Amino acid sequence: MKVKVCALMVTLPLAIQAAYYSSHKTDEQCGHCCRGFIGPAGTPGQHGQPGHRGEDGQPGPKGEKGDTGNKGFTGMKGDEGPVGPKGTRGRKGVKGECGLPGPQGIKGDIGPPGPTGPPGEPGVKGAKGDQPARVAFTVTRSEPLGPVLQKTPITFDKIHLNIGDSFDVYSSHFICKVNGTYLFTVHVLSMENQTAYGWLMLNNDHQMAFHGDAQSRHGTGSNTVILRLSKEDHVWIQLNENSAILNHFSSFSGHILFED
Ligand SMILES: *[C@@H]1O[C@H](CO)[C@@H](O)[C@H](O)[C@H]1NC(C)=O
Ligand SMILES: *[C@@H]1O[C@H](CO)[C@@H](O)[C@H](O)[C@H]1NC(C)=O
Repeated sequence: MKVKVCALMVTLPLAIQAAYYSSHKTDEQCGHCCRGFIGPAGTPGQHGQPGHRGEDGQPGPKGEKGDTGNKGFTGMKGDEGPVGPKGTRGRKGVKGECGLPGPQGIKGDIGPPGPTGPPGEPGVKGAKGDQPARVAFTVTRSEPLGPVLQKTPITFDKIHLNIGDSFDVYSSHFICKVNGTYLFTVHVLSMENQTAYGWLMLNNDHQMAFHGDAQSRHGTGSNTVILRLSKEDHVWIQLNENSAILNHFSSFSGHILFED
């Protein structure tokens, strides 16, 4: 019934004719023969209830590509990559801290001598020193000599003293054994009316003369000499030619004053 009303509304003229014929038929039924014109159509009725839902249509075409989605979660850590190429040499670094002291070095060379120190305290008194050399002799003759025809060594056969054994009895020479300073004396007495003239000799040198004059009948000649001698020096007495001396009064003596 509702469907028919709806169609009536869409095709109003047809609907009006239909309604005419329908009413005519109705008039025939109710026996009326005279009646007015058909009035205007009434106002449309209320809308009917919505019809039942139709069947689903065909799927629409594929939609456009959607927007980029949100960032996903962080993935797992990948495997370690291969060793990269060697880099260029870096710039010089800053100076580091001072290191620990190194091991002790080897002993150095000996240094130069130091300055002279102050004088020390006096030491204790030392032991008694060695005795100085002891040399002393006196010799004379037991026989007169001369007059001699040439220079002649006077020999002394009587040994009064010979400490240190430096007077050699065979040569009648004093032969130095200890370097040092020595004193010698010689004394001669001439024969009556004779001259006694001679020399004290050091090796082959005439060192000191002595002379006894014949005019005094018994002239005396003497002299003293101090000599610095070295080992093996010879000291002896030489009588000149034409001189003559007596025994006992003629002597030759010597002793050391101090060693070198
Ligand atoms: C020595 O000379 C003196 C005086 O000239 C003389 O009287 C004396 O007899 C001489 N003596 C000898 C031993 O010749
Ligand atoms: C003695 O003197 C000589 C010559 O001056 C010297 O060569 C010698 O070394 C001296 N000897 C000693 C023990 O002093």
